[in-house]
Amino acid sequence: MNAPLGPDDLSEWKRLTRLAAKSIKRPLSERVESPERFAQLSFEVAGLLVDFSKQRLDEEIVHALLALADATGLDRRIEDLFGGAEVNPTEQRPALHTALRAPLAKRPAAYGEAVEVTLTRMLDFAERVRSGDWRGATGKPINSVVHIGIGGSHLGPELAVKALSGTPGTNPQVRFVANIDRFALDAALIGLDPETTLFIVASKSFGTLETRVNADSARSWFLERMADVDALQQHFVAITENVEAAETFGMSPEQLFPMWDWVGGRYSLWSAVGLPLAISAGADGFRELLAGAHATDEHFRNSPLEDNVPVLMALAGIWNYNFLGVSNHAILPYSARLALLPDYLQQLEMESNGKSVDLKGNAVTVHTAPIIWGGEGTNGQHAFHQLLHQGTRSFTADFIIAGQADGNDVHGTWLLANGLAQSQAMMAGQEADDPHRRVAGDHATTTIVMGRLNPYTLGSLLALYEHKVFCQGVIWNINSFDQFGVELGKTLSVPIFGQLGGNSAVTQDASTRGLIEVLRKTAG
Ligand code: F6P
Repeated sequence: MNAPLGPDDLSEWKRLTRLAAKSIKRPLSERVESPERFAQLSFEVAGLLVDFSKQRLDEEIVHALLALADATGLDRRIEDLFGGAEVNPTEQRPALHTALRAPLAKRPAAYGEAVEVTLTRMLDFAERVRSGDWRGATGKPINSVVHIGIGGSHLGPELAVKALSGTPGTNPQVRFVANIDRFALDAALIGLDPETTLFIVASKSFGTLETRVNADSARSWFLERMADVDALQQHFVAITENVEAAETFGMSPEQLFPMWDWVGGRYSLWSAVGLPLAISAGADGFRELLAGAHATDEHFRNSPLEDNVPVLMALAGIWNYNFLGVSNHAILPYSARLALLPDYLQQLEMESNGKSVDLKGNAVTVHTAPIIWGGEGTNGQHAFHQLLHQGTRSFTADFIIAGQADGNDVHGTWLLANGLAQSQAMMAGQEADDPHRRVAGDHATTTIVMGRLNPYTLGSLLALYEHKVFCQGVIWNINSFDQFGVELGKTLSVPIFGQLGGNSAVTQDASTRGLIEVLRKTAG
């Protein structure tokens, strides 16, 4: 029997290996001397400009990468994604997050109506909360929203609210609780009046420990103050696929917004999970977010591979990780409003493509997703950029910068200047007689310019990354839509929880047992 085929068995992969050995010898700074380089390697998509001119790419390499994409059947797999084929075979499901942001006529027929009904209900509800038409149990309008959820049921909504909320004080404030640490919930509840607070419980499964425990404690906090179980109807809503569990919690059907198994948690911002954004930015803002994402979807579905920005972004990553040996990738948003983007993309990329078996369950023969990390600029310049400039590790990075509404604003102009200066320093480095002052440079980066940071461009940006992740998953031949690796720790925590709390015998390995015993003492 022949050994299973990995992407590295393809002749296109072997060609890229040969090109890499040649390419690594040519410094980036030499490549950017060509005046046409920016025009050749920057591309526009739905309000974004994506510039690959500081990547270690040239025409020959891009052609070879496109040939690899072609050889893996990427075109056909893109159609499978949009058409509702079973792209998540281990869970026997399609992944139809794109249907959530498509206009009704463009959604696969079987899903269109359900999406429309829920979207309309969710946006109506958001507008009622915003306008004060939705009243708490004692007749007062809502001025505070506490969103409880974790992972995909948290990261997107918090990123989007922080990125897009308008002037503070104009709409209900939105706070987020994800961590099971009691401190997180207590901090979110400080100063809130239960009569004017709305709780959103977002959990696709309605079984996630952190969300269940936080929701139970929030419910207790509320009932201790309001002493009226019926009041929960006006103050708690949930977004979930597990209607039964939500009803056991005390929700009635009117308080529930559905989720579906064909929307993965980390792809769910576009569903009713986006309710906090709809409350904070309004129905129009939410629809703009969907429109931006849909515009990128259309580009991704309909553009030839050579002009397809998510495809090119995926290929630039594959080139760096699989051929040039880079194992970590930094997300560097030059925007305080996008400070949570690295966290969001960490889940999107690492939970999707952190895999070591292929679609058939065979061990992969090439590396999959790199470590994704990062932090907002300019703050990172005064913290971790030292290692980027003078450390021994290789890395790649994405700079995300946004055009400024006021070209005379000194803050905005310095922000942009610093973003550009950092990518330049990473590329060009600096010669110096003193070795302590020498900066090696030659680090490849991509710069994404958002014409303006608004709902449309944020939607477009997040869809761009989603599709990049999908393309890389196709080329690595892995399932980007399951995440069984997260289960082990959840299972192990159950007996540890029991043994931490009681006096029962501790049946763990010697290290864990030692730690449990120390912690039992500190608790006593
Ligand atoms: O534990 C990982 C995970 O399942 C993520 O994939 C998901 O986004 C998160 O937990 C939250 O899940 P749920 O929405 O079901 O509470």
